[in-house]
Amino acid sequence: MTTSQSTLRSIALAQPATIRVFERFHLDYCCGGNRPLAEACAQKNINVDAVLAALAESTAAAQPARDFTQSTPSELIQHIVSTHHAYVRNELPRLLPVAERCAAKHGPVHPEVIQIERQLHQLGTELLNHLSKEELILFPYIEALEKFHNGSGPAPHACFPTVESPVQMMLSEHEAAGALLIEMRASTRNFTPPADACPTLVGLYDGIDAFERDLHQHIHLENNLLFPRAIALEKEVLIAH
Ligand SMILES: [Fe+2]
Ligand SMILES: [Fe+2]
Repeated sequence: MTTSQSTLRSIALAQPATIRVFERFHLDYCCGGNRPLAEACAQKNINVDAVLAALAESTAAAQPARDFTQSTPSELIQHIVSTHHAYVRNELPRLLPVAERCAAKHGPVHPEVIQIERQLHQLGTELLNHLSKEELILFPYIEALEKFHNGSGPAPHACFPTVESPVQMMLSEHEAAGALLIEMRASTRNFTPPADACPTLVGLYDGIDAFERDLHQHIHLENNLLFPRAIALEKEVLIAH
């Protein structure tokens, strides 16, 4: 039962359909999701009852959303890579040239578009590095840990003392990406194009808005499900051996 004292994280985990409500109210359910709904709403001056009503409505009308709480770490990894990493890799090469064109065309009158182009470029560079670290270092280690735990693989070798080190690094990179998107959102009044915007700029802002939504779901699955599970799995393995 969802109350104003439930954490955003727990609500999103129990009912993934509620994520669209958090997006609508701009409530952070991923990096900053470990706090009660009432506190998050008070901080943003949002009426908590309105959010509770919207949450109830979203779950009543929801299609059966995919529930990952019972997924194994390797199933989660497979989903994250094939859905969210693929989304980042598809969308960035599409959005970046559009942002360049918009900055050249609208920048002289709307300087925030030039800033958006720079920030999107920075976000893209940092995120692609981030995905590579997950796919080349952290995720293979978690998969090997799971195999070892199941008795179907050798003890995994790591270039870090415990999985918490790369996890901490990934968490701070998630924070940085989220912060960059918050800045972009603020400078564009929630990605609202200026009145004289051409359809390309309207499409760019819509694309970045969707990019942010996907990134939030992506980070939610990593921060709130995969990483805690990997840390717990490693502890179990260390105790057992
Ligand atoms: Fe990821
Ligand atoms: Fe990540």
